[in-house]
Amino acid sequence: MAGESEKSGAVRKLPRIVRTVAELQGLADEERAARKRIALVPTMGALHAGHMALVRAARARADRVWVSIFVNPTQFGPNEDFSRYPRPFEQDVALCGEEGVDLVFAPSVEEMYPTGAQTTVEVGELAKPLCGASRPGHFRGVATVVTKLLVAAKPHVAVFGEKDFQQLALIRRLVRDLLLDVEIVGVETARGRDGLALSSRNTLLVPEVRQDALSLVRALDAAEAAVAGGEDSADELLRIVRGVFLQAKSAELDYAELRDPRTLEAAPQRLCAPTLLAVAARFPATGGGPDARVRLIDNRVLHPKPGPEERP
Ligand code: PAJ
Repeated sequence: MAGESEKSGAVRKLPRIVRTVAELQGLADEERAARKRIALVPTMGALHAGHMALVRAARARADRVWVSIFVNPTQFGPNEDFSRYPRPFEQDVALCGEEGVDLVFAPSVEEMYPTGAQTTVEVGELAKPLCGASRPGHFRGVATVVTKLLVAAKPHVAVFGEKDFQQLALIRRLVRDLLLDVEIVGVETARGRDGLALSSRNTLLVPEVRQDALSLVRALDAAEAAVAGGEDSADELLRIVRGVFLQAKSAELDYAELRDPRTLEAAPQRLCAPTLLAVAARFPATGGGPDARVRLIDNRVLHPKPGPEERP
């Protein structure tokens, strides 16, 4: 039947595809008038099981699940992978259909950035460290497009992944700061069988270096094990983390840092409270010449054991 796909016997409707903000806002008004709750899952497409975990979290909280697919140019630096970013649109729409997504919003760049656009959203301190330091302007692009997507879709709830921990922290902040009437939900990182955090960029990895890419999750595991064994020195934990990356020949560590999970301020030398360990590294990539690299990130919140003086 036209507009329908079949999987394991169940017939699923393909989601409605919307290309303009005006149409989306009209639909949002209709759903709200009918007292339906809308959940939005913003994405850049190349959807994988991590995105689908967000879709399921959205489904549990709303009557309508809308996914946006928009490769946002303003969050890519001039030498980053905007043009190489995978765009398997048909496949994405089919996957959304299988998960019961009601609507896919896939605007053009011109639709999201009207000619002459000169307004941006900039979050302060939270945007500075980690990915903000290695990708100048990245979070201005993210904050701007997420604000626009929230204005366009008028959702009651919007769902984001903890894999992009800093992004999630920043979006929570901007929603509070701009008094936006939307609930932000964070979802745990989905991983492959080997532990690698799922990412649309994993498809760009040269297959032989996937083992090296696992240094990201191995580094987090090693730090977590050290903390479980009583280690509380930030220097020692970072030494352990760097040691893991040194063993992966093709890995170029971008950063490994310990920070306060709420403020993203640098952690103290002796960890005494839950602490974010965030890592980013580059690995050889397919396409884009011999020097092409793909940058992957991962993170974990470490829970140091209370010291003798803190024990009850
Ligand atoms: P994208 O990288 O497509 O990710 C879309 C959403 O999926 C983000 O909230 C991200 O944190 C989440 N996600 C990605 N991999 C995940 C995983 N393995 N487990 C759980 N969630 C995962 O992040 C963006 O797009 C963009 O910056 C966006 C917010 C859409 C703004 O352009």
